[in-house]
Amino acid sequence: MNIYHEAAKQIVDSRYCVAFTGAGISVESGIPPFRGRNGLWNKYDPRSFEIDYFLQDSAGSWEVIRDIFYDLFGQVLPNTAHYTLAEMEKRGLLKSIITQNIDNLHKDAGNKEVYEFHGSLKQIICLNCGKRVNVSRVDMNRLPPTCQTCGGLMKPDVVFFGEAIPEYAASKSIDAAQKADCMILIGTTGTVAPANTLPSQAKAYGTTIIEINPEPSEYTNRITDIFIRDKATRAMENLMAAIDELT
Ligand code: APR
Repeated sequence: MNIYHEAAKQIVDSRYCVAFTGAGISVESGIPPFRGRNGLWNKYDPRSFEIDYFLQDSAGSWEVIRDIFYDLFGQVLPNTAHYTLAEMEKRGLLKSIITQNIDNLHKDAGNKEVYEFHGSLKQIICLNCGKRVNVSRVDMNRLPPTCQTCGGLMKPDVVFFGEAIPEYAASKSIDAAQKADCMILIGTTGTVAPANTLPSQAKAYGTTIIEINPEPSEYTNRITDIFIRDKATRAMENLMAAIDELT
């Protein structure tokens, strides 16, 4: 049995399969990862994403945020790996996705149960009254945006360094990690806490861990049961073909 058949069998036989995704799944959509040689943190200063820095210089931070996240990420589309996860959910083979990504591509691909552990760029939030609006309503030429209701400072509704994880996403993700008997990790280094504790929690409950990544991660030698060393799109296509053979 090859590695794809092994992984497909675990997925098909599972009761509650969950995907846990990181920046790597969106690389083939044209979004660079955060870490590594071509990583965003080699090019941009991550300080713009520290909450204290943002509060001190919100106009400056917003300019960097606009350049990276709205100009660069703005035009991207889901790739085959995202679409395959959507198809798996439709067929009842996948219960939910826990994602560290803020690019909205899982929802764009059609997945319904998506827990955005680090929030989403689609919305901006008023730090004063908590009102959320779609980012399409922001004039990026006049930064920082302010709330139309109370005049407060608006911030992308994503988790900055130094901020807490949104309660809904955190509780849903922990619940999913505990229920999962199969977890597919795709494109994540496993270096950012507390998100990186979820696969280990799942493993402690006896979950089978399937990992897809062209490079070994923090998980590979520690908790991964089946390591598929490949890019997300090719790996997910092969995995789906193996699932089709079984079902
Ligand atoms: N397919 C699958 N995986 C890939 C691909 C690809 N085509 N290309 C790269 N990868 C892998 C890399 O080998 C690496 O393990 O994706 C991973 C990307 O790692 P990071 O950039 O560290 O992304 P991630 O783990 O999601 O980062 C977590 O860090 O700064 C924060 O909040 C940000 O959510 C992010 C968090």
